Amino acid sequence: MNRKKLFAVSAAGLVLISSAALAEITFRNAITGAPLDMSVAKSGGNEAVFNQFKETGKNPYNGNKEAVEKGHNLYLTACSGCHGHEAEGKLGPGLADDYWTYPANATDKGLFEVLFGGANGMMGPQYVNLSTDEMLMIMSWIRDIYKGDPKKAKWLK
Ligand code: HEC
Repeated sequence: MNRKKLFAVSAAGLVLISSAALAEITFRNAITGAPLDMSVAKSGGNEAVFNQFKETGKNPYNGNKEAVEKGHNLYLTACSGCHGHEAEGKLGPGLADDYWTYPANATDKGLFEVLFGGANGMMGPQYVNLSTDEMLMIMSWIRDIYKGDPKKAKWLK
């Protein structure tokens, strides 16, 4: 490859990278609508998966058996005390049916926003305890145990 060609190829590569960065989704607080400060996110785990989620808004772990299993264990430690062991609801609402206080939770973007940024009262922001990778795994378990109307499963669309 001559230098001119090489330059053209790398320039095209740069354009690709910058348009991917532009395509990144803005996550917002479920209550205030303010953009979530992602700089406080705990890193760790598979960051490539989270980067993909930031671009598509779809959880790459949905339907991934290993992630669902890990998500279940994490859920039992971090969430079940308030939401019940089967996510049937306790102090906090049930998470396995198709009724959502925040309708955006029928999308992966909405579910992530509540996890990361919290909601009202005892539903505090989870970035304090969990990495974004762990949140995606918990989300994949919540989708796995869904018992609601399949037509309302917006995350599948
Ligand atoms: C200390 C108790 C507590 C813990 C721990 C907790 N939650 Fe919650 N959660 C709540 C309460 C209370 C609400 C209702 C808040 C509201 O309506 O704004 C809630 C709301 C939610 C909602 C919104 C549900 C809807 O109907 O729209 C989701 C999703 C959720 N929690 C997921 C989780 C997950 C996943 C975890 C673990 C990572 C977790 N929560 C940990 C208490 C808790």
